[in-house]
Formats: sequence, structure tokens, C-alpha cells
Amino acid sequence: MNKILSAILLTIVISTKLFAAGDAAKPMSVDWSFNGFFGKFDRAQLQRGFQVYKEVCASCHSMKYLSYRNLGEKGGPEFSEQEVKAIAASYQIKDGPNEQGEMFERAGLPKDKFKSPYPNKNAARSVNGGAYPPDMSVLVKARSGGSNYIYSILMGYDDKPPSGMKIEDGVYYNKYMAGNKIRMSKPLNEGSVEYSDGTKATVSQMSKDVTAFLTWTAEPHLEKRKRIGFKTIIYLLIFSVLVFLSMKKIWSRVETKM
Ligand code: HEC
Repeated sequence: MNKILSAILLTIVISTKLFAAGDAAKPMSVDWSFNGFFGKFDRAQLQRGFQVYKEVCASCHSMKYLSYRNLGEKGGPEFSEQEVKAIAASYQIKDGPNEQGEMFERAGLPKDKFKSPYPNKNAARSVNGGAYPPDMSVLVKARSGGSNYIYSILMGYDDKPPSGMKIEDGVYYNKYMAGNKIRMSKPLNEGSVEYSDGTKATVSQMSKDVTAFLTWTAEPHLEKRKRIGFKTIIYLLIFSVLVFLSMKKIWSRVETKM
């Protein structure tokens, strides 16, 4: 029995050691507005984050589970109806077939799904040197470390990899990526977008904004979930007090003999 136990322990120790070899740094920890029990998204930040996604990330990463109308829903960026219509209409969407049996393009509508940058996975791979830019709808949920991890990846580039590390063509050093190598060039640089609300578009600011946006796309009901959680706790508190009082009442009729 002891032997088995020590074998298991040894395996765990060895495997964590192996993993630690030249591997990803622990993600930075960010003080997100949506952290904690009362956390909420910052509307203006979600709107800026959408802008970063639209103007930078969307040229490679799809967002296939989202429709333009979601951008106007409560708990999200909450763009106005007019803004959502204008955003949708800025895309040309393939539709059809028409009466002649032909496909045609038309301006996007709020009900349309986000337009994907590539027609299929193979096309996406062949343009990106064999690497597939993952769909972003639920990426924050799909990676352990969630929002902190995504932010760290965006901030984790360094032109000078540690000495002795060989960086092949089309690969970039990133200290937060597993294996420290990523096949996505640094997507954000100072001023990659221009914010209309006057916020300075530093790499850190844009990374935070787009990560907050991606957190919302992965968990659109985060605010509602927290609200319900809070109400449930209040309800349970009141309920416990009532149970306690009624127990006292019931047991008060029982004579206690000491
Ligand atoms: C030029 C194309 C391109 C652009 C633009 C781009 N990416 Fe990527 N991205 C990729 C590719 C390709 C991969 C896959 C990399 C790999 O597997 O090594 C990737 C992977 C990722 C990953 C996943 C890392 C992981 O754990 O697998 C994240 C996060 C990411 N991108 C975020 C972003 C964000 C945010 C933006 C916009 C600010 C963006 N990307 C813009 C091509 C791009």
C-alpha cells in the first residue's frame, strides 16, 4: 500500500517538475471590475473592447456564437438599437439563394451572426502558417486562468527571448503561452485603435478592454448570475432566521428535565 502511495506521489512530483521546465509564467492578476461578489462589467470598457475586437482581432478570430443584436442586450456593452443596426450594416453578409437560385450579398442585420474572417478552418490555417486562430466566443472559459490569462498573453510578448531559446520563423516568444511560443504575432501596439471617448490606447488599456469584452461574450449572464446569487443568500438568511424562530417556538412546549 505504501509503495503504491509513494509511486503516485513520485509521479505527481515528476510530472509537475516536467511541466515547470521552461514553461508558461503564471498569468498576471488584474483587478477586473467584474471580479468579486458584486462585480459588474464597465459598459464603456465593453464598448471599447468591442472596438478592439472589431478593428484588430476580427481579421483572424471568428466569434461565431454571437449575433450583432447581442451587443445591445442588457448586461453587455449595451449599444443603443441605432448603434447595433449601424454596426451590423457595416458588414456585407452572404444570403440566398434568391429566386434565380443565386447567392447574394446584403448589408448585415442585427439578427445576423458575427461575420467570420475565413470561410472555413482550413482557410484560416493556411493563411496563418498552419496555426488556427481559435474562435473567440467562449475562449475566456476555454482557457484555465480565464481573463487574467488572455490579458497576460496580449502583454506577454518580448522581442528578446531568453538566451539559448531558439525562435523559429513565424513563431513569437510569449512568456505566458505554454512552451513560451505562440504563432500569433503581437496583435496590439500603442495606438492600434483610436478611442472616441478619449481613453489613451496603450497596449495595456486595449488588452484590458478587449479581454473584458471577451469575458462578456464567454459569460453574457455574469451580472444576472451574481444578482441571483446575492438574492439567494439574502433569502437563505431570512429563511434560516424563520426556521430558527419556529424551532424555538416548537421546542418551547417540550419540558426540559435537567
Ligand atoms: C493575424 C492574425 C491574428 C490576429 C489579428 C489576432 N490573432 Fe490571436 N491568434 C492567431 C493565431 C494564428 C493563433 C493561434 C496561435 C497558436 O496556436 O500558436 C491565435 C491565438 C490567440 C489566443 C490563444 C492563445 C491560446 O491559449 O491558445 C488568444 C488569447 C488570442 N489569439 C487573442 C487575440 C486577441 C485578443 C486579438 C486582438 C487584439 C488577436 N488574438 C488578434 C492569429 C491572430
